[in-house]
Amino acid sequence: MNQRSSVAPLDVVVLAAGKGTRMRSARPKVLQPLGGEPLLAHVLRAVAGLSPQQVHLVVGHGQADVRAWAETRADVAASLTWVEQTEQLGTGHAVRLSAPGWTPGSVIVIAYGDVPLISSATLADAARAAQAQVVIITARVADPQGYGRIVRDAAGQVSAIVEHADATSAQQAINEINTGVIAAPAEWLAPWLAALTKQNPKGEYYLTDVIAMAVAAGRPVTGLCAADAAELEGVNDRAQLARAERRLQQQRADTLMQTGVTLADPARIDVRGSLVCGRDVHIDVGCVFEGQVELGDDVTIGPYCHLRDVQLGDGAVIESHSVLEGVVAEAKVHVGPFARLRPGTRLATAAKVGNFVETKKAIVGPGSKINHLSYVGDAELGADVNVGAGTITCNYDGANKHLTRIGDRAFIGSNSALVAPVEIGSDATIGAGSVIAKPAPAGQLTVSRSKQMSLPGWQRPTKHKP
Ligand code: UD1
Ligand code: CA
Repeated sequence: MNQRSSVAPLDVVVLAAGKGTRMRSARPKVLQPLGGEPLLAHVLRAVAGLSPQQVHLVVGHGQADVRAWAETRADVAASLTWVEQTEQLGTGHAVRLSAPGWTPGSVIVIAYGDVPLISSATLADAARAAQAQVVIITARVADPQGYGRIVRDAAGQVSAIVEHADATSAQQAINEINTGVIAAPAEWLAPWLAALTKQNPKGEYYLTDVIAMAVAAGRPVTGLCAADAAELEGVNDRAQLARAERRLQQQRADTLMQTGVTLADPARIDVRGSLVCGRDVHIDVGCVFEGQVELGDDVTIGPYCHLRDVQLGDGAVIESHSVLEGVVAEAKVHVGPFARLRPGTRLATAAKVGNFVETKKAIVGPGSKINHLSYVGDAELGADVNVGAGTITCNYDGANKHLTRIGDRAFIGSNSALVAPVEIGSDATIGAGSVIAKPAPAGQLTVSRSKQMSLPGWQRPTKHKP
């Protein structure tokens, strides 16, 4: 419709000052986590998709926390124009406070920090349509409880938005609702905002009242009904938060499956960050992925695993109930079931870490095995080392951590304690049950345990007769 040069610049206002009373939380609502990130992060990402001239973020309740969060995200902080709303007098008041900073001649799109699943496409639809009219994104919902209702006249034109609390029972039956996204040319919107009053039961300046003003001023008002109402659901309480979470997880699961990942059950996976998978990855039920997780080709993740900030090479197998954090593994490693790999664990090709093994800052060389019931921390293992069941690196002397080094092909007998700092040479063998506090030379058997003895003729005590 418009030539590129005639399209007005775009400013987006994001409302994030409200308390979120219905959450009953100490945390500001827009910082409640959804898919591992604050609600607000999702909204700002959708907004960034429009490449607006400015993003005005209205903050108030808990703003120190919101600002602190934004500072952790350089990409976010750099793009924001902060607007402070010290008293939360309503959505209209919040938008009004941003008006002095608007880009002259722009189209304003208003989005809510508590409508997190909104897509860039929906915001773009509103922006595009609002070059010379007022646009509201509406949705038809089964349960309109709590939302502003879209009132249309006999000709089907939007004439007003009536808030739930103020609606007559006939209006309450309307199931077309205001999603919160309103867009209009800045020069129309500013005087309407200035004219808002709080003559309503809640005593707030309602942004939604600008619609009736637009109609009165003879400006065209269009209600664009969103195809996917779910995208526009507001999050006001914990039940809605949980619903949004399931919806987001379903989307993430769908995306994974589209890229070729097999999910045993798309309803039983949680991705709270980014999960990038190679070809033919298989993920069983109940797994949680956090932070940045990268899985190579043919990786298998068993049921109920928890991975945070993990990279696994091709063909890795993680068996059930394993917890991996800060782990980098090469191809064909085998982990679990019931393994706990803590930050700084590096597994080389075909390394194995079995059940009830904990590792931390452990570099495990190619083909090395720690198969059962061990703690290996602050350790460097060469290639093809075998660590017997129950072996512990005693890495902590109560004040400092120390390193254990184990050479290629060393064999550590079961139930040994390696008291760091200590070094075990290549091809060394440690007898089971040893406490090793001094270097164990390469190629030799080192045993440090009391000698076994048997007493010939010894007899078991017998019970005294009364
Ligand atoms: C609002 C709309 C309603 C719509 C619904 C969609 C109004 C008057 N009502 O109702 O028509 O159906 O959203 O989800 O606009 N906020 C501020 N400052 C304030 C008040 C609110 O920044 O003074 C922010 C909140 O942090 C929130 C957003 O505005 O992100 C919406 O506020 P909320 O109180 O949740 O409005 P609803 O009652 O949901
Ligand atoms: Ca809301």
